Amino acid sequence: MSSEGRSCPIHYRYTPESLCQAPETLTEDVLYVIGGLYGNTLALDEIEAMAAAEEAEGRRVKLLFNGDFNWFNASDELFSEVNQRVLRHDAMLGNVEYELAHPSNGAGCGCAYPEFVASDVVSRSNRIMARLQAVADRHSDIQAQLAGLARFRCMIFGGLKVLILHGDPESLAGWGLSYESFAQGNNDQLAAWFRATGADIMLCTHTCLPLIWQGVVDGRPRQVLNNGSAGMGNLMSDSRGLIARLSTTKPFNAPVAGIITGRTQLSLMPVRFDQQAWRAQFDALWPAGSDAELSYRARIVSGTDLSTEALYFSAGVSA
Ligand SMILES: [Fe+2]
Repeated sequence: MSSEGRSCPIHYRYTPESLCQAPETLTEDVLYVIGGLYGNTLALDEIEAMAAAEEAEGRRVKLLFNGDFNWFNASDELFSEVNQRVLRHDAMLGNVEYELAHPSNGAGCGCAYPEFVASDVVSRSNRIMARLQAVADRHSDIQAQLAGLARFRCMIFGGLKVLILHGDPESLAGWGLSYESFAQGNNDQLAAWFRATGADIMLCTHTCLPLIWQGVVDGRPRQVLNNGSAGMGNLMSDSRGLIARLSTTKPFNAPVAGIITGRTQLSLMPVRFDQQAWRAQFDALWPAGSDAELSYRARIVSGTDLSTEALYFSAGVSA
């Protein structure tokens, strides 16, 4: 069986100790971390409107796109629009952008899919990537901009050290902070990663299901928040996207889920984009029987099997 889409390319890897050595200090009042927009311009409209509404109330909002903002936007027009609009804000690499900026032999989609993901899903993702790469090859200016983005970021916000990762603390496409990893139990690994990075909060995406974890490592409260996808449905019978919001003020609208640590509120905020317009855009590019339609359309329409209550994990992982 081909390992395309299964392997974790060596250039995706980094060490946990290296991630928070020089944290930036965030000066805005609110941070949106937007993972997995997947080329959804309607979700981007809504996220920018959410930020504008907060700014109208006097709060400065930073938008940080946490990779995989490209995926379904496989036309020249949409590829340009998504990247030009996202890159007006702040952005990090996902495996999708990495493979668009410099395609690597044998990586396929660069997703590093684990064994529980079916091989036909992996094959379809590899073909979606190949189609998107053919578009990206006609936009060398955008490829150059994507190549310059960071793979991880570390920020001081509200007195806390916030580590922002696309995958996990060892790889751009790691699945160590996936919902499945938390469900199986990953407390020892989490404790080791929090010790090695010194982070209070880890924010991630890539694995496409949201979660909130809270625990204590070495006497300090720690949190993990995976926003799932900003551009696709995440929860049961719910087609809204989700983004992570950090602030020392209350969320502007009701969050789907959230926790408070110290002065900082961590929230999963719903992205109520125009579903009809989004589905029309998706269907025009990915008609019935296409790779993206087979892999994603049911989720785009109906969300997942995950209930809001099932988002939460907690543990006192060490004394
Ligand atoms: Fe990803």
